Amino acid sequence: MERLQKFLARAGVASRRKCEELITAGKVAVNGEVVRELGSKVDPDHDRITVDGQPVRMEPHVYILLHKPRGVVTTAADPQGRKTVLDLIDLPQRIFPVGRLDMDTSGLLLLTNDGALANGLMHPKYEVDKLYRTEVEGYISDESIARLEAGVELEDGPTAPAKVRLLRRSKSKSLFEITIHEGRNRQVRRMCDQVGHPVLTLKRMKLAFLTLGETVPGQWRYLTDKEVDLLFRIAGATR
Ligand code: URA
Repeated sequence: MERLQKFLARAGVASRRKCEELITAGKVAVNGEVVRELGSKVDPDHDRITVDGQPVRMEPHVYILLHKPRGVVTTAADPQGRKTVLDLIDLPQRIFPVGRLDMDTSGLLLLTNDGALANGLMHPKYEVDKLYRTEVEGYISDESIARLEAGVELEDGPTAPAKVRLLRRSKSKSLFEITIHEGRNRQVRRMCDQVGHPVLTLKRMKLAFLTLGETVPGQWRYLTDKEVDLLFRIAGATR
C-alpha cells in the first residue's frame, strides 16, 4: 500500500504538491470513487486510479534538460494560450517542469515525469545551487553586490546569502553571475530591484552540476544515466 499522492507523483502525473492539489480538488478517483483525503492509501497493483477520468499508468521515467528560450511560459498549460516549454518537446510521456523560469528568463530548465526527483530538487532543504547570468541597469557598486550577497529584504522575507561574480560594469549596465539556492518567485529580479538595478536580461546557466553546454535556445537533450544518478543523490531521493 502506498499513499495516493506519492503514487501519483511517482507515476509522473505531477510534483507531489501538485498531486495533493489534484486530490483535494476532487479530480482523483480510486476504483470509481472520488478521494479527497490526502492520507488515503492505495494498492497500485490492484486499485484503478484515475485523474480527470483518465487511468494513471506507470510510465518509464524521462529526464530532460531544456535550453529555454525567452518568450515561452514554463507552466504546463497556459490559460492565455501562449507557447509553453512543453510545446518545444514532442514526447508521448506527460512531463512537467522542475520549478519555473519566468517568461522573459532563458536558460537551463529540467523536465521530467518523475515526481520523486522533482520534489527533492525543489525542496528548500537540499539547497540546490542555481547560477544566473544577470544583466542589470546601471553601474552596480561594490556595496550593492555586497548587499545581494548578504541577503536583501523582500516582501516574503530576507533572502539567503548568495554568491556574486562581477563580469563587467559600465555607467549604463552591469553584468554578473549570481548563485542562489532558494527558488522563490521572480527572486533574482526582485533582489536586483531591491538594490536599485532592474534586470535587463536573465539567464540560468547552471543547476547543481548541470550546465547549458553547447545547446542553443529551444534545444533539449536527455540527461545521461550518470547525471540522473547524481541528481538523485543531491535531491536526497531514491531512484
Ligand atoms: N529569478 C527570477 O527572477 N526569475 C527567474 O526566472 C528565475 C530566478
